[in-house]
Amino acid sequence: MTSIYIGVMTGTSMDGIDIVAASFEPLKLHATLTIPFDTDLKDELMSLTLPGDNEIDRMGKADVTLAKKIAKGINQLIKKNNLDRKTIKAIGSHGQTIRHRPQDGFTLQLGDPNLITEITKIPVVSDFRRRDLAAGGQGAPLVPAFHQAIFQHETRDRVILNLGGIANISILPANQSQISGFDTGPGNILMDGWCRRYTGQPYDENGNWAANGTPIRALLDRLYSHDFFGKKPPKSTGREEFNLDWLDEQIIDWRNDAEYEEIDDLPENIQATLAKLTVRAIQKAIYRSGIQDGEVYVCGGGAYNSFILEQLRWRLRKHEWTVQTTDVIGISPTWVESTAFAWLAMRFVTQQTGNLPAVTGADATRILGTITAV
Ligand SMILES: Nc1ncnc2c1ncn2[C@@H]1O[C@H](COP(=O)(O)OP(=O)(O)O)[C@@H](O)[C@H]1O
Ligand SMILES: [Mg+2]
Repeated sequence: MTSIYIGVMTGTSMDGIDIVAASFEPLKLHATLTIPFDTDLKDELMSLTLPGDNEIDRMGKADVTLAKKIAKGINQLIKKNNLDRKTIKAIGSHGQTIRHRPQDGFTLQLGDPNLITEITKIPVVSDFRRRDLAAGGQGAPLVPAFHQAIFQHETRDRVILNLGGIANISILPANQSQISGFDTGPGNILMDGWCRRYTGQPYDENGNWAANGTPIRALLDRLYSHDFFGKKPPKSTGREEFNLDWLDEQIIDWRNDAEYEEIDDLPENIQATLAKLTVRAIQKAIYRSGIQDGEVYVCGGGAYNSFILEQLRWRLRKHEWTVQTTDVIGISPTWVESTAFAWLAMRFVTQQTGNLPAVTGADATRILGTITAV
């Protein structure tokens, strides 16, 4: 009987909860579902990513609300697709990150696994990141081990680029040689925030708004001078570092700069600059990987931002990299991350390690997560 694992991911974009039922060897997706966040929950989770008033009470309540929503979504997925509960071995629930501070040795995700188990009657593997942190790692990114298992090719060098709120890459040289992976910086997070503020839309559909603007060189250079971009891997980041408050400070500094030109100061130009920031950080990371040419496969919601993909193709043209989405290698971009957490749940249940020390900087491989039994 095939063992099914359910993966649940709620990423930094806070667009919703992605749920997938998958089995491995060979990889098969049995069912998928996205539950969008309502505005209240999204706003509360976003505000919990930064220090604020009465955090413990508010965090506790959000922990419960989110867990109930996740559990309801899982039950819905099982029912709608007639999945046989006996075949489901475990749920891998990542939870919503509200703080990720590897420099202080901690990371915090919400979505109480006790409630999820209570409501679904399925064991939940959760808290995937803290063991890696305890072993001296960044606790992130965790998806490269899955990318390696599923996407590494025998003869072709590949890069898997996950364009979520934060962007991360896995560099997968051919011949099973050692892989690397790290966060490159903001993916959609700043573009989403800026777009929401000026257009009221949650994101810039296909990057159309950014495509209408002209990047502002002086602002781009200022944004790119953030310490994170200069750091050597292993490195990881989050909403604590890249958010609209930070962007606003940079814009104020730019407006006081000698290079400032009022004529450039248009919201669509700033959106174009943010798109370019995402692309620049990715391109530099890929060029630094030492691979001369290869295949880039993009996953995460940003894979649907055709403007960003076009820009990436242009920036990577020198070394003849190809840029496509993970659709062409077997998984829709939307489901790669959640499938990775189904895979990590499988790794826990079968007592296999989940982190890659070369990626996270941990002392050694570890079995990741804790289990809440039925
Ligand atoms: N058609 C689209 N055009 C542009 N961007 C898109 C589109 N669809 C999704 N996105 C982007 O993808 C994001 C969600 O990506 P996701 O992989 O779920 O990120 P996370 O893991 O951070 O939640 C959205 O916030 C948006 O920025
Ligand atoms: Mg998401």
